[in-house]
Amino acid sequence: MPIQNRLRRLRKSESVLRLFTETEVTARNLIPVWFIVDGHGVAEEVPPGGGMWRYSVDQVPAQAKRAKAGGAEGVMLFGVPETKGMHHAVDPNGLVASAARALKGMGLTVFADVCLCSYTPDGHCGVWHEGAGHGIDGGHVDNDASVAMLAKMAVMLAAAGVDVVSPSDMMDGRIGVIRKALDDAGFEYTLLCSYAAKMASAFYGPFRLAAESAPQHGDRRGYQMNPANRREARREVEADVMEGADMILVKPALTNLDLIREARDRWDLPIVAYQVSGEYAMVREAANAGRIDFARAARETLVSIKRAGADLIVTYLTDDVWAGRV
Ligand code: PBG
Repeated sequence: MPIQNRLRRLRKSESVLRLFTETEVTARNLIPVWFIVDGHGVAEEVPPGGGMWRYSVDQVPAQAKRAKAGGAEGVMLFGVPETKGMHHAVDPNGLVASAARALKGMGLTVFADVCLCSYTPDGHCGVWHEGAGHGIDGGHVDNDASVAMLAKMAVMLAAAGVDVVSPSDMMDGRIGVIRKALDDAGFEYTLLCSYAAKMASAFYGPFRLAAESAPQHGDRRGYQMNPANRREARREVEADVMEGADMILVKPALTNLDLIREARDRWDLPIVAYQVSGEYAMVREAANAGRIDFARAARETLVSIKRAGADLIVTYLTDDVWAGRV
């Protein structure tokens, strides 16, 4: 038959398929998330099967060895103290600072979350003020007071040896303020990974259980982005690039592949995508129900995120990748 384009020639054998694979995901591209908790000897998955692991500080070196053996180059730390209180966020002997010190010299690049939601009693990502304000639910999260606190937290983490401070709070102007605070404190070489386009997403549900960070009143729509807004995402990314972010992060990943691609085409700095807890849960639960193949589906999500333009993917799939299950 006179068929001009036989694209199936490029799919004619396993070898040809492998030869022309355009996108590859390697362990180096993947950043595991570790929730650091109080106590001793703690290594627990919360909830079981949820892909989210909590470790006490003493467990960190062994986990780091495992991560290195699996091919990881970086880890992302979140602190989940037993008791709430803003002072934990800036405590130089706090959980994340201690974990960062335990990771010293282990050959991993240490990312640490900069946000207040697992420390504030009300679970908001910034400093909450009751009553009249511009917030959408009666009170409001005070942008500038929150930024001042986040800058202190960032400097404390840098002093503890964190390589990449990663603000996930979505306050305005925090990248510039944090950059200046780091430079003023002599941490000119601490990197800044900005959660630039972070949506007010339903897909954070499992994480909020693991991090005990669900807002106790209201929601996060006064600071996290409306998932419907593409132009606004471009403004968020532009602002953070201009303020001095070393890399920008888009989150969730699968629901924002277009934004990842757009940021890739417009900017040349590294792009990180966060494949969030709900994305992991979708794949895991569908596989548990026998509807999809876990390994193939998981791999397909990672490849799609990479193909969209992400350099790094923060994900709960690392353990499966290191063990060769994905
Ligand atoms: C905190 C934060 C959240 C996530 C990462 N950092 C939760 C939220 O914003 O409510 C979610 C990550 C995940 O779901 O895996 N600011």
